[in-house]
Amino acid sequence: MSRQACSDATLDRIMRQKILYEGAGQLEYEIRNIVKKAEQLQQLGLTIYWENIGDPIQKHAKIPPWIKEIITDLVNKDATYGYCHSKGILDTRKFLAARTNRRGGAQITENDILFFNGLGDAISKLYQFLHSSSRIIGPSPAYATHSSAEAAHANAAPLTYRLDPENSWYPDLEDMHNQIRYNPNIIGILVINPDNPTGMVYPLETLKKIVQMARDYQLILVSDEIYNNITYHETTSYALSEIIEDVPGIALSGISKELPWPGARCGWMEFYNRNVDQDFSDLCTALENVKMTEVCATTLPQKAIPLIMSDSRYDEYRHQLNQAIGARGKIVANILGGLPFIHFNETFGAFYNTIVFKNGVLKPEQFLETTDSQITQLLVEWIDPALPLDKQFSYYLLATTGVCVVPLSSFHSKLLGFRVTLLEEDPDLLAIIFEKIRNAIQEYCTSG
Ligand SMILES: Cc1ncc(COP(=O)(O)O)c(C=O)c1O
Repeated sequence: MSRQACSDATLDRIMRQKILYEGAGQLEYEIRNIVKKAEQLQQLGLTIYWENIGDPIQKHAKIPPWIKEIITDLVNKDATYGYCHSKGILDTRKFLAARTNRRGGAQITENDILFFNGLGDAISKLYQFLHSSSRIIGPSPAYATHSSAEAAHANAAPLTYRLDPENSWYPDLEDMHNQIRYNPNIIGILVINPDNPTGMVYPLETLKKIVQMARDYQLILVSDEIYNNITYHETTSYALSEIIEDVPGIALSGISKELPWPGARCGWMEFYNRNVDQDFSDLCTALENVKMTEVCATTLPQKAIPLIMSDSRYDEYRHQLNQAIGARGKIVANILGGLPFIHFNETFGAFYNTIVFKNGVLKPEQFLETTDSQITQLLVEWIDPALPLDKQFSYYLLATTGVCVVPLSSFHSKLLGFRVTLLEEDPDLLAIIFEKIRNAIQEYCTSG
């Protein structure tokens, strides 16, 4: 082709369609974005305390030898290296269906379970298959994997109901009801229980009211229960199957947090009451079909699940881990609990706490002092006055103490605060980190 022809063709196509779809702007994941800033500081020699990510392994959790032996045995078998059934390994699905059925609520078979490459994969597939005008209302503060995927599918801001920090972070049912009542596009309610980012576990009464609302408005229920077996201080977390009765719904589970084995990329959906609603049943079938086009989810962790979870040592192992998280929660409560600038709630499940600044406490002119000129330079680059005030605090905290937290405004929330994890295994280091946070809050809130 001559040069002239080439440039004519270029001109003809000058009106090319946009490449990126509109909803892509809704995909935000500050949990990882802040890592880039922390890495810049690391290069300057600052020690970083990674409070931003819910990965117990990164926080030095040790996998017990008996679990490693089970996985090693599987690795030594040729069958582990093959594809598996597109819905997931049959025996594993039977094992999980029996576990759900033992709870005595909604009853399922192996055909109601569908495996994915991590729960994150399941979540993005779920929203991808919703009609573009159909919305699922979820909690705010919101775990971004849900809210961003839901917002991206609808090409709009996420629809959220309020979790109330002044009422133990429980869902504000009046807010939920008002939104559902006046928005016919809402076809489902998402509950995350135990919750990320608040660490709260919802009472049975609250959950029953949500089920009733779903029934009244013919909605489906989606329950992310990846932390269902991570509770402490004698708290029980009710699974969706136990409370759902006749309402159609999907429970989302996985092993990233519970074993913990986040690197396995293994999660699954359980469909309840699939046959009571044709639209819901069609959604379940579409999800199964998409998995078929991808062949299957990863085989190794699926083979390991029944072997590990049916081992007599498993419950005690999880119990010990839960106790340890609860004890860390107490240490954090002792350090931060009395601070006048924040709302602090004690947690009962998962391994996070979300701390909220009281109204009016954060102001634009506040800062934390640093004597390092390179760090000062970075802060000058990062601190844009247009940023939410909790982001500014989090960047100052990171730059001056090395403590990397996730600002609450990144969880699609109007509240200002930040999320920490309860994963640091070393109690002395845990105390050091949270004392740094406490001192930073005190200094920041009284500066400027
Ligand atoms: C509530 C919740 N759901 C889902 C996930 C994603 O889990 P996975 O590692 O299986 O993708 C997470 C991870 O942090 C989570 O907190």
